[in-house]
Amino acid sequence: MSRKVACTGIKPTGSPHLGNYFGMYKPAIELAKDYDTRYFIADYHALNTIKDPEKMRELSYEVAATWLACGLDPEKSIIYKQSAVPYTFELHTILMAFASKGLMNRAHAYKAVVQANKENGRDPDDGVNVGLFTYPILMAADILQFDSDVVPVGKDQVQHLEMTVDIAQSINYNYKAELLTIPEALVRKETGLITGLDGRKMSKSYNNTIPLFLPKKKLRKTIMKIVTNSQTIDEPKNPDTCNVFALYKLFATEEQQEDLRKRYLAGGLGWGHAKQELFEVMDAYLSPMREKYDALMEDKTYLEKILKEGAEKANEIVEKKLAYLRAALGVR
Ligand code: TRP
Repeated sequence: MSRKVACTGIKPTGSPHLGNYFGMYKPAIELAKDYDTRYFIADYHALNTIKDPEKMRELSYEVAATWLACGLDPEKSIIYKQSAVPYTFELHTILMAFASKGLMNRAHAYKAVVQANKENGRDPDDGVNVGLFTYPILMAADILQFDSDVVPVGKDQVQHLEMTVDIAQSINYNYKAELLTIPEALVRKETGLITGLDGRKMSKSYNNTIPLFLPKKKLRKTIMKIVTNSQTIDEPKNPDTCNVFALYKLFATEEQQEDLRKRYLAGGLGWGHAKQELFEVMDAYLSPMREKYDALMEDKTYLEKILKEGAEKANEIVEKKLAYLRAALGVR
């Protein structure tokens, strides 16, 4: 029996951080045990915001190297750049004919920009390019081209998935056939619960992230910046309301967690000590991945080779799907 298909994309718009790792990379890699996976670097989605070619190239390499350093096996999973599979954009064009404008008007990302413009007395369309407006349709093409069954995403992408389902259903309805597989969002519970340096959700837009592959010294320096309260060393401290402890739990064994919990409650543990404990477990966990990542970033030829092979595999699958769809639509 053939396995189900899981598909997801990551935009190369910033260096991968711990929130991305626990929210996306790690669960997606675990999913590869049970699913046929198609993971891609959503560079054409990123083009809406990244208009510097050097930055685009570098951030795309970073995402590719992160997938591999975190343990994705390119022999078993397909990993590729969105821009290297032109069929996606043909499907995008097909989907446009079925995606209602009203549906796109309701997309959160687009609405947020319009709202901010209105609040600031600007024209509602100020700075809005059509790519931002049609973003959910391109995303639907990414997903539907593979007949994906599940799409691992963060909570913020659930609406986009609903739009994908909506578009696919209107096509199936019109042609009275299951031309497209209806996908399902796979939303991880933990997603969004990784706290950043200031205690809010870790996010690039809050500027509170801990990048995944900081060199040791920088990692320690960054951890020391985590915001804590002004309790003195002697005071007993509450681990359950502490940003440092929340991060510690992600990296430490049960035993280590119990041990540090006791030291919090007993008093005599300063914030500097707690942060040092955090640094040690985090560094032990991340070091092997960081070494792999650094080696990959030094070997762009290898990264290019992996991405090229991935794109070939993806093109082969999608080419067939598009031939099938064109025939069904009566266009070729
Ligand atoms: N929009 C997603 C994000 O911002 C990235 C993305 C693009 C994606 N295409 C996709 C995710 C297809 C899942 C499936 O995170």
